[in-house]
Order: sequence, then C-alpha cells, then structure tokens
Amino acid sequence: MHSLHKKTLVLSALLTAIAASAPLALAEDMPLYRDPKQPVEARVEDLLSRLSLQEKIGLLHADSKFTTAAIPHLGIPRRWMSDGPHGVREDVGPDDWLPSGHTDDFSTCFPTLIGVAATWNPEDAKAMGTVIGQEARKRGKDIMLGPGVNIQRTPLNGRSFEYMGEDPWLSGRIAVGYIEGVQSQNVASCVKHFAANNQETDRNSINVEMDDRTLHEIYLPAFKAAVQEGHVLCVMGAYNKFRGVHASENDLLLNKILKQDWGFTGMVISDWNAAHNTKECVENGLDLEMGTEKKAYNDYYLADPYLEGIQSGKFAPALLDDKVRRNLRVMITTHVLDQRPPGSLNTIEHQDAARKVAEDGMVLLKNDNAALPLDISKIKSIAVIGENANRKQVHAGESSAIKAFYEIPPLDGIIARASGKIDITFSPGYRDKAGKTEAADLMDRAVAAASKADVAIIVGGLNHIEGFDSEGEDRKSIDLPFGQDELIRRVAAANPRTIVVLVSGSPVAMSGWLDKVPAVVEAWYPGMESGNAIAHLLFGDINPSGKLPCTFPKKYDDTPTGAAHSAESYPGKNGTVTYSEGLLVGYRWFDTKNIEPLFPFGHGLSYTTFTYNNLKVTPADSGKNIPASIDCDLTNSGPRQGAEVVQVYIHPDHPSVMRPEKELKGFSKIALLPGETKTVHIPLDPNAFSFYDPAQSAWVAEKGNYTLLVGSSSRDIRLHADLTLNKTTTEK
Ligand code: GLC
Repeated sequence: MHSLHKKTLVLSALLTAIAASAPLALAEDMPLYRDPKQPVEARVEDLLSRLSLQEKIGLLHADSKFTTAAIPHLGIPRRWMSDGPHGVREDVGPDDWLPSGHTDDFSTCFPTLIGVAATWNPEDAKAMGTVIGQEARKRGKDIMLGPGVNIQRTPLNGRSFEYMGEDPWLSGRIAVGYIEGVQSQNVASCVKHFAANNQETDRNSINVEMDDRTLHEIYLPAFKAAVQEGHVLCVMGAYNKFRGVHASENDLLLNKILKQDWGFTGMVISDWNAAHNTKECVENGLDLEMGTEKKAYNDYYLADPYLEGIQSGKFAPALLDDKVRRNLRVMITTHVLDQRPPGSLNTIEHQDAARKVAEDGMVLLKNDNAALPLDISKIKSIAVIGENANRKQVHAGESSAIKAFYEIPPLDGIIARASGKIDITFSPGYRDKAGKTEAADLMDRAVAAASKADVAIIVGGLNHIEGFDSEGEDRKSIDLPFGQDELIRRVAAANPRTIVVLVSGSPVAMSGWLDKVPAVVEAWYPGMESGNAIAHLLFGDINPSGKLPCTFPKKYDDTPTGAAHSAESYPGKNGTVTYSEGLLVGYRWFDTKNIEPLFPFGHGLSYTTFTYNNLKVTPADSGKNIPASIDCDLTNSGPRQGAEVVQVYIHPDHPSVMRPEKELKGFSKIALLPGETKTVHIPLDPNAFSFYDPAQSAWVAEKGNYTLLVGSSSRDIRLHADLTLNKTTTEK
C-alpha cells in the first residue's frame, strides 16, 4: 500500500478516535449549567455564579420590544417573547409596534380564547397550546404571552374575546390545558393579566377595589390553577392598580399571594409599559420589565437605576439574585441553552386542530323545529347576508392579532361546502362604515335577496374595531351595531327560514328578532378555519357541542355593572372602580338575583338529545384523600352522535355567610353514539364546598347540607342530590 495512503488511513483513524473522545472531553470541560442532565436548580446556581452584576441586571429588562439581551460568552441567547394567546403574533419592532414586514412570520390562528372556553374541553385547549408551542419554537420564540384568564365581570370589556368567560373554575381548567400544551414544547407560557384587569377603560391607571372574598373566590382562582396545576412559568402583571398600587409592582399580589402563598417559582413579567417605579419594581416582585416607554433600554426602571441602587447599597443583592434565578429557571426549564426540537409551522395537523377547536366551541343557542342542520339535497338557494360573512377578522384586535397563513370567511366556507349544488348569493346587508343612504340600500338589497332564496343565513355580530371586541377600548353597549337588529327583523319577515350566525367575542343582545328566527349560532371568532367550521355546523357535518362560558343578558341593565347604574361600579369614578357586586359575577348574579337571562351560562344545544339518570353522590374520604364526586348515567337519546357537557354546581342550603345561589365545581364533556349510555364520573375540587374566610385567610368548608345540581346548563338542571358535610374544615 502506498505510504502516503497508509499515512492518510492512520491519520483519519487518529482523528476519528479524537472526535469520538471529544464529547467526553467536552463533558469534562462542559460547565455544569450547560449540562442538560444536571438538575435545574444546580444549573441555575452555577450559571448565576458566573454572571457579573451588569449581566444580572441585563437579564431583568428588555433590549427591544419583545427581547432581552444575549450574554454570548456564557451561551445565553436573546430571549424572544411573542403575543397572541390564539397564535404566534407576527414580528413587530424592534423598537416600535409596527409590523417588521418579515415574510416568514405567518402562523396558525385558532379561535380566540372565549371560543376555546366554550368547548368546555381542556383537551382541546391542550391541543391548541401544543400547536402554538410548536409554532413558537419554529418561529424562534421562547415565551408565549398567553393565556389571558381575566374574569368577564362586564360584557362591555373590550378584551372579553381574549379571555375565558365569567367562571373561575371553567377558566382554570381551560388555562391549565393550554399551559400544559405550550410548555410541553419547551416554550414558557405566561398567564395574564395578574390581576383584576377586567376592563379596558383607563386600563393603565384605574385602581381596582374589591373585598377579599371576591378577590380569592372570583378573580384569583384561574391564576392559582395556572400556577399550582399548570405550573405556568411566567405571570404577566397587569396595567391597573389594585388597592392603590400598580399590579406589576404590587407587594400583596406578587410577593405575598403569588410567590409566598402559592409558591410560584417562575418569573413575573410586566405588561408592556406597566412598570412605573424602580423601588416598587425591585421590592414588590417584578422580575422582568418589558415595554417601558423610555428613550433607551438602559433607562428602564430595572436597568441603570437598579444597577445604581445596588451599587449604592440602596437595594439588597439577594433580591437581585432572586429575580435573576427566576429568569434563569424559566430559561433552563425550557431548555433554551440546550438542543430543542425545531418545532413546526402550519402543518395539516395544525390546520385540523384549529378547525376542531373552532367546531367544538361554537354554541347552538336556538334551533326550533330542527331548522338546523341544513339538508343540502333539499335546498336550491341560500342568501348569505351580513358583512361578517366575508369579513376577515384574525389580523385585528391589537396585541392578539395574528398574521395567519390564510383565513376562510364564513361565506367562502358555505360556498365550498355547498360545492355547487346550491345557488348562493351574498348581500352585505350592513357595513360598519356605511352612511345612512348606503345603509338603507344595503338592507333593502339583503331583504330582497332573502325573499327569493329557500334559506337566508345572516352572519352578523361584532368585529375588532375599537369600541367592539378590541384591546384598548370597551364596548359602549351590548346591542348589535350597524342596524343589524332591524336587518334581521326584516330578513326574517321576508324569509321564515332565516338562520343567524353571530361572529363575536362577547355577549350581544338580540333585540326584537330572537322570536322571529328559528335558529341562532354563536360562532365566536373561530380563527383561520372559520368558514369551514361554520359550514360544517350548518350542514350537519359536525354536531355542535359548545356551551356558553358567559351569560347572555336580555339587556345591559340586567348585568351587575348595568344594574348598579353607578360610575363607581363601572367604569370607575375619580380613578377608582369598586366591584360592589362582589362574588355575584355572571350567573352568580343572575341566579342569586333571580334575573332571567337571554341565554344562561353553560347553555348550548345539540342536534341530538341527552338524558340524565341515576345520580350518585360520593362524599369525600379525607382519610384516603379522595375528593367528593358524582356519578350519573348519560344517554344519547337522539338520532346522531353528539357530545354533552355534564355540569356540576353546588348550592349550600343554609350557609352562615352570603354564598351565590350556585357555583360550578365540576364538568365533563362526553361523546356518545346514538342510544349509547355512559356512566359519567366527576370528582369535585377539594375546595368545592369552601368559601374564603378573610378573618382566617383560609378556605372554610362549612358543615351542613349542600344540594348538588347536575345538568346541561346552569339553568337546565336534570338531577340533584344532597351531600352533608359533618364537620367544618379549614384550609390555609
Ligand atoms: C399589551 C397587552 C398584553 C400583551 C402585551 C405585549 O398591551 O396588554 O396582553 O401581551 O402588551 O403586546
């Protein structure tokens, strides 16, 4: 063998041996914090010990609109955050809110969270979170700024569409599912906006006052579930003040309740421009300052001012290290420093998931004489009416706006589903910017079109322009805008087979026409697969199974904030809003005050029917740590496959303190074939019977009798049973 060739062989063998040994060499030289096999806390401590004071400070504030600075010599990359609870937001900035103009920042757009809550299915939320986590990874994002879980105290809240409705238990279940999904993809979820951010009016300055029971029983539970069950890694402080102090630098909320009482070990991120004072940020629990409107990032409250405070001895280094640990803990827990799967974007599976969540969340509010589903074989013509039939919605709503790969409006979905077998016309009927003359003409044309068609489908509701369903401004009314009430009345008069589909993110009144149409669907904002999901429901490809996560009132004055007729109650007076209705939010108000809603919390019809039998209540076995539970037999007594949400409410028969008439404490969504019966088992939360006692700062489950109400909605109770607690228990 030629000597050169021989030498080459020997050399390549030698290099191979070195390369093979290199990982071991790397392992020996690899700093502990870089070793994914090491425990998180050990990696955190090792990395913390390697940071200079300046580097520590640099981790606590933004270096662009949605990033924090890299520390290259330690292998710490820039951390990227992104909005959009219902999709990964387009890239904006770097130093402003303007779209970056990138061509690779599209993403899959799911229904907004009110529509996800309406699925009453934590598995749907988890599937959504998983997709969003995969897409965040592909888009290079490390922290997703969602879910939003603020309780719907008033239907006028401009961001109701981004949240999960009026009930703490439902919101908590859906939030936990979503967070588990996102974080399963090595992306941190950030539950928001902590806390009491329940209106957009004066959101940056309004001071919220409420009693402790209301805080702990209504406005905190969804956050607590996110932290203690979802193990959410980030919490976003809200803009508003709570008891006089800005929520993003509030000792009671952040240090006492979140970190001390709940044991939160992740990090608190300010809402954008929600930080206001270095001392309060330092001492009251803020760990990462974002979006502050300063000329330079080093002017942030947790930047140079904090550095100078440390150097002058004004602030304790230990507090700095706790903040840094929390940032590092989130980073290391999500493997930002390690090899991570690359993620994926807009796959068929993602599109299917977006459509499924949309389909599972739409609520069939009314369906007289089986007006729905429509039988394609028996319909020759359909007049589709309403601006929302061909309005694209996803790229709007402010921070939750999504640049989707595509969006199928309702009209397109209906046309595609009818696949040429039906003559379909479209008539806007209204426009959100129409003048008087144009509005009259639009309406006349729509009515004429309806009179000539077999079926009229009106797709109305709201949109994301300010003053409707949008961040930054509340609604002024719960009425349908742009003359829709008159339009629906006239179309229904022209065609008795008029179906109304509402695209909206918050309750709307239905003035003067609900009794004139046979069917109404609340579709919410279904996301990019909107048209397909709506068409599948209308033509019966899917059986609707959504349930209302919020009460639809007959009129605004029936709601707690409407009935109060006082600025103090909403939207606030002299800078303060007082939640005088206390615990009585949503159905808690309507049922305790015995006010008939238009459609109750938990309501949603199906194309089949369900019967409930054999309710059995099992008391808790505290010795074995087994919570109370209910079992009942659910039967699909109708003609087709369907899913029902069995809901469990508790009613204390003789409480020693004021308690709402009923409270949701358990639910389960069950799919059944025609004729099928399943025994549904629903364990109740250990705190299901408790109220919060401010005097003891504890949860009290009072001895006495409780009625358990099991049914298809908060006002469609099918079975009830008694449960007696033989002793009062208290839990801190
Ligand atoms: C916005 C929103 C918040 C969002 C943040 C970043 O003002 O309140 O939900 O995540 O700023 O866009």
